Amino acid sequence: MSALNAKLAAALASRDARNIRRRLPDPSSAASPPYTDFSSNDYLSLAASPLLRARLLAALAAAPDALGSGGSRLLVNGAQHTALEDRLRTFFAADAALLFNSGFDANAGFFACVPQPGDILLADEHIHASVHDGARASRLPPPARRTFAHNDLRALRTELLRARADLPAGASVFVAVESVYSMDGTLAPLADIVHITETLFPHRNALLVVDEAHATGIYGPCGRGLVASLRLERRVFARLHTFGKALASSGAVVLTSPLVRDYLLNFARPLIYTTALANTSIVAASCAFDLLQDGTASALAETLHAITAYLLSRLRTALARIPPHILRLPPHLSSPTTKQTPAQTHPPAPIVPLLTPLARPLSAHLRTRGMNARPISWPTVPKGADRVRVCVQARTSRADVDRLVEALSVWAEGVVRAEGQALGVECKL
Ligand SMILES: Cc1ncc(COP(=O)(O)O)c(C=O)c1O
Repeated sequence: MSALNAKLAAALASRDARNIRRRLPDPSSAASPPYTDFSSNDYLSLAASPLLRARLLAALAAAPDALGSGGSRLLVNGAQHTALEDRLRTFFAADAALLFNSGFDANAGFFACVPQPGDILLADEHIHASVHDGARASRLPPPARRTFAHNDLRALRTELLRARADLPAGASVFVAVESVYSMDGTLAPLADIVHITETLFPHRNALLVVDEAHATGIYGPCGRGLVASLRLERRVFARLHTFGKALASSGAVVLTSPLVRDYLLNFARPLIYTTALANTSIVAASCAFDLLQDGTASALAETLHAITAYLLSRLRTALARIPPHILRLPPHLSSPTTKQTPAQTHPPAPIVPLLTPLARPLSAHLRTRGMNARPISWPTVPKGADRVRVCVQARTSRADVDRLVEALSVWAEGVVRAEGQALGVECKL
């Protein structure tokens, strides 16, 4: 084995030993039958929507260009791309919109180039990896790239005060948050974040960037996200909406000012040095936005919120009998009265983490019963926070939820029994 191969193999073996080796899911465990999908981010079930499929096929047949884009946005005539940007600028009540090939590219591109030397980045500790990757490639040295405790307003305030003291004249602080966090399903207390930021930085040099990847389509009027729901559009520096989750397409849009848009066009490398989204994706995203605009998605979002509420109520009852060291909900979901912040009245996200040190065995057990819910371990989540992440979709039925809760109870009973046997005592739930 070559020296390089030996090192690569050792790194993989080390992951094997720690039970954290990543593998592609078995194609037979895809979201489609016979497995019930408790895993995908297809929250509105649009990927399986006959209506969207029919609309897409008709729109592709009528589109002036239906296939690839032919090159970088900067080199080819992206008439359909520009038309979608114009539409999204209006739909989201923004001053400017710029497409990226993915949410990852958008975050990586934005955070790599927009913060200037002397600026400080404050990110929620649970922010997506793409923000960290962008920040690492930026001109901010490590001490200027800081995090604050997840959704903790006091910690944010402390870090903002520290940043204010450290900030050179003429510099800015970027505050990066997600409106819905992908691993925990927590919602950011956006109104409070805006308030604290504006109070401590009255000269408006603290700039909020909100990643709405998991809120797009499911929160806010016509699925326009939490920023729109709270009418904070004018108080946020930039927003990211992605098309690959609830919209069943791919790509992303950054909503910001015309100046920042122009700057990104000149300096965001993941935008400049890549082939623009294929026209197919533009048409697909446009068809999904039709469903947002005509209210179809709002009805699906209502269904989604209702089935999420049903899942949570069934889980709370079932988990009350299960020792929390085996399986539990996180604090923000463990009681129906737990609100994100007093100011927030949004329904819980369709992302439900089931915390357990036995995430892989639990996921495997669910698969034997025809359900697909993926285990998530470090480094995707902090050490000790392993979970099976359950995502529900608009087409998840009450019977699906009942089967899931029953399977969890049976599994937990087995674990309790095995723990008892190891101790030489009989244990039952
Ligand atoms: C919060 C968040 N932002 C950005 C992304 C990246 O978006 P995309 O899948 O379009 O690259 C993801 C997806 O994993 C995400 O969860």
